[in-house]
Amino acid sequence: MTTVAGLAASPPPPGALDAPPDAFAVLRDALAAAKFDESTVSARLGVPSLYDVKRLVDRRTTLASAPEDANAVLVRLFIDSEMLPTSLVERLLGARVLAALHTLGMVAPAAGGDASLAATVMLYPTQGLWLTSDRMPMRVADLHLVPQDYVFSALNDLTRQYLDGVPDATGGRVLELCAGTGVAALRAARRGAAEAWATDIAPRCVDFARFNARLNDLDDRVHVVESDAWAALGAETFDLVVAHPPYVPALSHRFDFRDAGADGEQVARRIVEGLAAHLRPGGRFVMRAALSDRRGAPIATRVREWLGAAGDQFDVVVLEDGEYGPMDAYKSVTKGGKGFVDCEQWLRHFDALGVERFAVSVVEMRRDAAGRVPLTERRVAGRTPDHRAMDWVFRWARRAASSGATPEARLAAQRPRVAPGSRLAVHLESDASGAWFNVGAVVEIAWPTHAVVKAPALAPTLLELCDGTRDVPAILAGLRDAGLVSEDVTRADVAHLVEVLAAAGALELPDCPLPAPVGA
Ligand SMILES: C[S@@+](CC[C@H](N)C(=O)[O-])C[C@H]1O[C@@H](n2cnc3c(N)ncnc32)[C@H](O)[C@@H]1O
Repeated sequence: MTTVAGLAASPPPPGALDAPPDAFAVLRDALAAAKFDESTVSARLGVPSLYDVKRLVDRRTTLASAPEDANAVLVRLFIDSEMLPTSLVERLLGARVLAALHTLGMVAPAAGGDASLAATVMLYPTQGLWLTSDRMPMRVADLHLVPQDYVFSALNDLTRQYLDGVPDATGGRVLELCAGTGVAALRAARRGAAEAWATDIAPRCVDFARFNARLNDLDDRVHVVESDAWAALGAETFDLVVAHPPYVPALSHRFDFRDAGADGEQVARRIVEGLAAHLRPGGRFVMRAALSDRRGAPIATRVREWLGAAGDQFDVVVLEDGEYGPMDAYKSVTKGGKGFVDCEQWLRHFDALGVERFAVSVVEMRRDAAGRVPLTERRVAGRTPDHRAMDWVFRWARRAASSGATPEARLAAQRPRVAPGSRLAVHLESDASGAWFNVGAVVEIAWPTHAVVKAPALAPTLLELCDGTRDVPAILAGLRDAGLVSEDVTRADVAHLVEVLAAAGALELPDCPLPAPVGA
């Protein structure tokens, strides 16, 4: 029998394909009976969400004493990667469950441990699923042991942010490229997709994703395929394609989950290039990756070019969720690890590519622009951006393009209302006598996207008038009553300002409602 030597080692994936289905069912029942779910485990570990969880080795203090129930055994074995006495595991999980764990290759005798067991994989509840992935190294010094095809844990902030951007596709056909554990494909199937595919270039990822499909009893609806981007997908087409590809620039390849060629865009670009062949009319594509603005070629223009001749069938929105310059990219790529001796080489490399800045981007493309001018929109993400924020950007862009030729026409009969969370800063200026005058204002909003709008001095009154009861003519009348505008200010002027504020999300229009912020 395999023994787990040192927790940084990377044992083969669990669950040989011929493992009896019964073993999966026994394990599923045991996980449910032990309440190995997100809310129970995070409450026991004292964290708001399992995305915040620390392992014991990282100085967690909760659930640190000898396990006294099945839930604690599962946490210690599969989240903490701790060794536990075999007799304790058998007593608290039961002999049948322990046998199933052995059958599935999820535990093995721990090397050097005296009749102890260790997990060969991580196992955790997340997104309403149970997922396995490779164990994380226990010490920084073990990082060099991590294999090239390391199976990326789904329990991390990057995956959470990616999943936040992914909508459900009830009844649809979903593809997750670069699937790793298969988390988005499995979640789609769990939430009602008719069929989901998970593909990855790394055979170990494929094995883990297949195992995860069986563990969650979703293998009848989730197909897992080894594929370099689209290579193995033939003529398959999908309603929703999602991807969280590697995107770190790499002059040599170390990790499949991280390294994406000299500019970090090699996988992302090939994914977008394949959409014309694989995304159905009316379909949606969502990708989270760092991309770069190049001289004369910003991200939104570049991703549209990648679509090729079919590009005019797609609306494109890029939501930027963090930016950094070439120097920061160099530091994070190399960790400054060589005393910065290669810094100049990297900066010259980025300069030769024309890179001006990198932006972590959620890119969504919708293939429903045939017969009209396609939309391209770029925004800066606000607080916890998700697919509902993205959806609002699409709705807003469509509305702006189709509901009239002028702001006044587009706002006809609309009664705007100030969005909750809007912030207003009034700028006062003093004169020689020491008196203060209102000279302008700034309106800032963080949801659904982040925006800062410079507004004239009348902004506080205008925002007060926008209480959902007044249309543009009534707002203009209110400003006149307050003595804030002269007779030559027109409805068109007011409509223009109202539309700028509505485009930013600071005002809500009844025909383009704002999504409720996360947690509201
Ligand atoms: C950042 S991980 C994302 C894993 C998972 N989707 C998640 O969000 O947790 C990127 C994944 O892309 C896979 N990958 C890298 N290059 C690929 C390629 N050319 N084609 C398909 N998959 C690739 C890696 O093996 C890795 O599993």
